[in-house]
Amino acid sequence: MGTADDSGRERPIVIVGASLGGAKAAEALREAGYEGRIVLIGDEHERPYERPPLSKGYLLGKTSREKIYVHPPQWYGEHDVTLRLGTAVAAIDPAGHTVTLADDGRIEYAKLLLTTGSLPRRLPVPGADQEGVLYLRRVEDSDRIKDALRPGARVAVIGAGWIGLETAAAARTAGAEVTILEAAELPLLRVLGREVAQVFADLHRDHGVDLRFNVQVDELTGEGGTVTGVRLGDGTTVPADAVIVGIGIAPDIALAKAAGLEIVNGIKTDEHLRTSAPDVYAAGDVANAYHPLFGRHLRVEHWANAVNQPQTAARAMLGHPDAVYDRVPYFFTDQYDLGMEYVGYVEPGGYDRVVFRGDPATREFIAFWLSDGRVLAGMNVNIWDVTEPIRELVRSGRKVDPARLADPGVPLGEV
Ligand SMILES: Cc1cc2nc3c(=O)[nH]c(=O)nc-3n(C[C@H](O)[C@H](O)[C@H](O)COP(=O)(O)OP(=O)(O)OC[C@H]3O[C@@H](n4cnc5c(N)ncnc54)[C@H](O)[C@@H]3O)c2cc1C
Ligand SMILES: NC(=O)c1ccc[n+]([C@@H]2O[C@H](COP(=O)([O-])OP(=O)(O)OC[C@H]3O[C@@H](n4cnc5c(N)ncnc54)[C@H](O)[C@@H]3O)[C@@H](O)[C@H]2O)c1
Repeated sequence: MGTADDSGRERPIVIVGASLGGAKAAEALREAGYEGRIVLIGDEHERPYERPPLSKGYLLGKTSREKIYVHPPQWYGEHDVTLRLGTAVAAIDPAGHTVTLADDGRIEYAKLLLTTGSLPRRLPVPGADQEGVLYLRRVEDSDRIKDALRPGARVAVIGAGWIGLETAAAARTAGAEVTILEAAELPLLRVLGREVAQVFADLHRDHGVDLRFNVQVDELTGEGGTVTGVRLGDGTTVPADAVIVGIGIAPDIALAKAAGLEIVNGIKTDEHLRTSAPDVYAAGDVANAYHPLFGRHLRVEHWANAVNQPQTAARAMLGHPDAVYDRVPYFFTDQYDLGMEYVGYVEPGGYDRVVFRGDPATREFIAFWLSDGRVLAGMNVNIWDVTEPIRELVRSGRKVDPARLADPGVPLGEV
């Protein structure tokens, strides 16, 4: 494969997906000293922006629009990054090293990075396509939800995951009446387990949310094409002026799958973020990357992963053999006056003990998930500047004394 395209120009590095991961990859390529062409292609019309504010500060009207972007508008020109917005990539051809745009344009690439992210799962019940049924992924979705969060409005939230809980908190803060409808027994159960999930259930109950668990959503009722409520499996109907759906995402593998890349719970990559196709890499929500620390593939649907993985992908694309992604996963949330950070990874049900440092009822504590005496993950709630020692505990994989772990008098580095 030559390095020039049909017109004799050097082939660029092409990045598909102009969001957090894509923009961070372009930045990392320049920081690593790459001086060649970079083409960053995205089907959204906004320049790359961050999604966390869309369910928090931006939704609450506290964070301005200008604050959500990854870079100021002039950054792309200043760093010679060709940003093609409102442009969908229709196909990739790994053998021919080309991407085909939806408008039929073609770009030959030297290396290709896929940061196509994920798409919200749609609610598969009658009535789910009516006016007033709201999903949250893009900034315009957040604008629509903000319009619906009026004092006294009845808002039903389907799914007590991150989207459901954060939008419920914003809705209550805006004065809406909120009912959360969750299929499982507790919120965030798969990620946090019963002990810590209960903290979030209590938090929302204390803020006046009507929480309903173990429910089955059968239908969204409506009138004249506008949603009026949620009919449940037990025959009851929860009346609603707006319904927010946050029932998980699916990695956006469409391009990769059609191109014959190996797909296993996202685009499968090695620890260098290389896919099964030569010169094609993947990062962010869409990548199911081999993680050397955990000895398994891991797909992480969180902000820090979309910030950090592109740095490894960029260096790997530039030929650095030591570019390996082995960071311990990290994420955060803000709901009402609860702020937390989580570092580590626990498979659903994959722990045998939770140790609390501090009383969870005070909402100022650290929770640790252990297996066989080793810390798999830790979560600090309304306690700050402890991520690094917790990360170190997880990374070291050493056995700890649970009594010392629980004792606030023992520095985390000395547990
Ligand atoms: C409302 C919200 C709040 C969140 N809050 C938090 C939080 O508090 N903490 C946290 O850790 N994480 C949070 N997350 C998760 C975090 O935002 C994601 O993990 C992150 O956005 C992933 O970035 P990404 O670049 O991999 O993918 P995405 O952000 O999904 O971006 C992918 C981009 O690729 C584009 N694209 C896809 N296919 C094509 C194509 N064929 N052609 C052109 N463009 C294409 C998409 O339109 C999109 O713009 C939140 C997510 C949401 C939606
Ligand atoms: N603070 C954060 O880290 C943060 C914030 C917002 C969004 N995100 C990311 O955005 C993505 C989407 O978030 P999400 O909350 O939609 O997904 P999620 O996977 O966190 O939660 C989905 C919830 O919906 C429930 N559910 C599924 N089907 C249901 C049904 N038919 N009826 C009722 N409940 C049902 C699940 O049991 C689960 O509790 C995720 O990747 C998430 O990591 C992260």
